[in-house]
Amino acid sequence: ADRITNICCIGAGYVGGPTCAVIAAKCPEIRITVVDRDPARISAWNSDTLPVYEPGLDALVKRQRNINLVFSTDIDRAIDEAQLIFIAVNTPPMHHHTHVSSLGAKPDLSAVSDCARRIARVSLTDKIVVAKSTVPCGACATIAQMLRDNAQSGVRFSVLSNPEFLSEGTAVRDLLHPDRILIGGDDMVAQDRLKAVYMHWVPEPNILTMNMWSSELAKLASNAMLAQRVSSINSISAICEAVGANISEVAAGCGSDSRIGSKFLRPSLGFGGSCFHKDIASLIWLSESLGLPEVAEYWHQVLALNRFQIRRFVARILADASRGDGSSGLQGRRVACLGFAFKEGTGDTRNTPAADVCCELLRNGATLSVYDPKVSRHHIVDRLAAAAGTDCSVDSVTVCADAYSAIAGSDIVVVLTAWSEFRVIDWEQALKLMAKPAYVFDGQIVLDHDRLRQLGFNVFSIGHTHVTAQ
Ligand code: NAD
Ligand code: UDX
Repeated sequence: ADRITNICCIGAGYVGGPTCAVIAAKCPEIRITVVDRDPARISAWNSDTLPVYEPGLDALVKRQRNINLVFSTDIDRAIDEAQLIFIAVNTPPMHHHTHVSSLGAKPDLSAVSDCARRIARVSLTDKIVVAKSTVPCGACATIAQMLRDNAQSGVRFSVLSNPEFLSEGTAVRDLLHPDRILIGGDDMVAQDRLKAVYMHWVPEPNILTMNMWSSELAKLASNAMLAQRVSSINSISAICEAVGANISEVAAGCGSDSRIGSKFLRPSLGFGGSCFHKDIASLIWLSESLGLPEVAEYWHQVLALNRFQIRRFVARILADASRGDGSSGLQGRRVACLGFAFKEGTGDTRNTPAADVCCELLRNGATLSVYDPKVSRHHIVDRLAAAAGTDCSVDSVTVCADAYSAIAGSDIVVVLTAWSEFRVIDWEQALKLMAKPAYVFDGQIVLDHDRLRQLGFNVFSIGHTHVTAQ
């Protein structure tokens, strides 16, 4: 079969941009055009400030850009010229259209459908169409049907499912060294042609071909199982706090069983990000629509536990650090919030647990000073305003340029994202800047709690027994 020499990727986001940069770097004979309907996104990809922050991405893009990697708004032309088209557009949850009694959320596939109709309308030659976006089971079959229904006469389409497993913050590394590549479909020639692209850098045993439904479901199931591990360890962290066990020791005790494994057992304020919530909600919706309420309820508990973790953390702050002088909640208290991104290594704030904690603190009357090394001031304020809704104001939020400015004058420090730079804060200096008694609530278990107690802080950490200083 012919080799692929021209690829189009529709969707220049967190997935489309980095994925195509890596393909371009590894496949010099392939020309890749990444297109998007958002002209601002495309100009950012063509500028010195890329729209996505990922370690290693700038260098990769700068090296390949306008050699064999092109960012463009001319979607039709890129489709026309390509032999293979990735669809990497967003598939957000459709909260408002789901039945009220549903625990899940159907994903909104309208952007994927728009792409399918457009590809059918524009294509004058046969194309391989690859669903890289995360879609529920059966969506690729629907895409294939849409392409057939709208095709120009004589044009044939082969649809493949090729979900993406990169994590934000390590996208380039994950793309360069993927644990596995899944290629789902029933057209073996098309599967082999996509496989040949990946074989430029991925060992053949790591490329798994399977049927379309398996590939689609493996993506949703992987994210659900990863999120489930976080909820599992977080459920145990609540027990630790009550009985005097230490969650880090328990995680090591469980994780050194090779059948369980040590990864993804880090206790936290819960999982955030653009994928876990939406993909579990999609799995729940799929289970419900297949008449499997027990399965839906099982996965729903992973989300419910995730919310419980935030409620517990805020309740602990209220219980320990309210003034106790009759004034309500955290009225008059300044809280330094360290970290705002949904995890370290990224500037992304989608579904960040930090926003939920901040809003609860604001509702309880606190004044906030927020610092994150990678999230901009306007992003933090916009995100908080959206999360706060109408029942609390973000007027009492200050965004600071460094940790010390956030800490200065505060009564309470809360760690909301596991940035390693928080470990190297000079806590002796920090204590001098704070009101007394000084409190630290570590939601990500990044600080040296014994040392902080020695310095005189009142320290609480997720999953550790609660001890008050003095
Ligand atoms: P994103 O929002 O960052 O990017 C999507 C892009 O698609 C946007 O730039 C948008 O303008 C563009 N777009 C939407 N509709 C379009 C259309 N009709 N024509 C042209 N462009 C269009 O999204 P993302 O984070 O890159 O995610 C894309 C898909 O990959 C989703 O299905 C997501 O679930 C999945 N995924 C994401 C990650 C992740 O870490 N972000 C990881 C694995 C899988
Ligand atoms: C996830 C999947 O890992 C990836 O394979 C998929 O393609 C997209 O979704 P991402 O959301 O970028 O990636 O980040 P990930 O590292 O998985 O972390 C998700 C959330 O879980 C973060 O909020 C993180 O802080 C939290 N987490 C992760 C924990 O609380 N504990 C852990 O042990 C691991």
